[in-house]
Amino acid sequence: MPIKAQPLTGVFAAEISGINLASLSEGDLAELRAVMCAHEVVVVRGQTLEPAQQSAFSARLGPFGEVPFIATMDEFPEVIRVVKEADEGAAFNFGGAWHSDFSFQNEPPSFTILSAVDVPPWGGDTCFASMTAAWNALHEPMQIRLRALKAVHSARDAYSPKMQALHTGMSGMQIVCDESANDHRVHPLVPVHPETGREVLFFNRAYVRDIENMPNDEAQSLMSFLHLHTTDVKFMYRHRWQSGDVVIWDNRSTQHVALNDYGGFRRELRRTTIAGESPQR
Ligand code: SIN
Repeated sequence: MPIKAQPLTGVFAAEISGINLASLSEGDLAELRAVMCAHEVVVVRGQTLEPAQQSAFSARLGPFGEVPFIATMDEFPEVIRVVKEADEGAAFNFGGAWHSDFSFQNEPPSFTILSAVDVPPWGGDTCFASMTAAWNALHEPMQIRLRALKAVHSARDAYSPKMQALHTGMSGMQIVCDESANDHRVHPLVPVHPETGREVLFFNRAYVRDIENMPNDEAQSLMSFLHLHTTDVKFMYRHRWQSGDVVIWDNRSTQHVALNDYGGFRRELRRTTIAGESPQR
């Protein structure tokens, strides 16, 4: 029976029911991947994946992505525990600025898989923005201008040594900043998605720190515009977590942010990333 994807907004994101990610047939896996690329964010409820099951499912989507700066689970070096304890109200909020995962890498992840282990009774939602919809909504003269540009991605304002103090208040996660975060990678601002052939805006304010060959004032105002435009509520899906949820996003065509509005409660999710390719147009 074909996988049924129930849209969650009029723009992108879909919920899939009636599948078990731990025991998908090859046919269902291929269909799921097509749904993931088409809808960009896919929600599968009631999964309760153990780390080994999450790893095994993730590995069927491709090789794991490299995980810099963030300590992973001892037994599962591809799994990050995204955890904030109830008494860590003032600690750094992991994922708390709009970003695409590790976009500063040469080959940023294609997909991210996030599974909910322990969720607060309210708050802690994750918001996603469709960078395909944000691109499609731009006027043609702006599209022509952006197609010619390259964005400079760097993790320097998240993981360089100057940021280490910011990460010290966390007890459930360990972030180890180092000089490699000062490196930068240049990616087309508007790559073509390698699986759908659609143009996407590959931009996020956390890691895009400059626009290549553009005067600083102009680059700053373009980046501010792109941030405001792409995070408009009309391109957004907001996920309210339940334990056992698995959310899979296409990291090449979305950005996301984790909300930090659940002081006094614990939140734990597990994250795996799948290696991608260098963005091209
Ligand atoms: C992340 O950015 O990968 C984590 C998102 C979240 O915790 O909701």
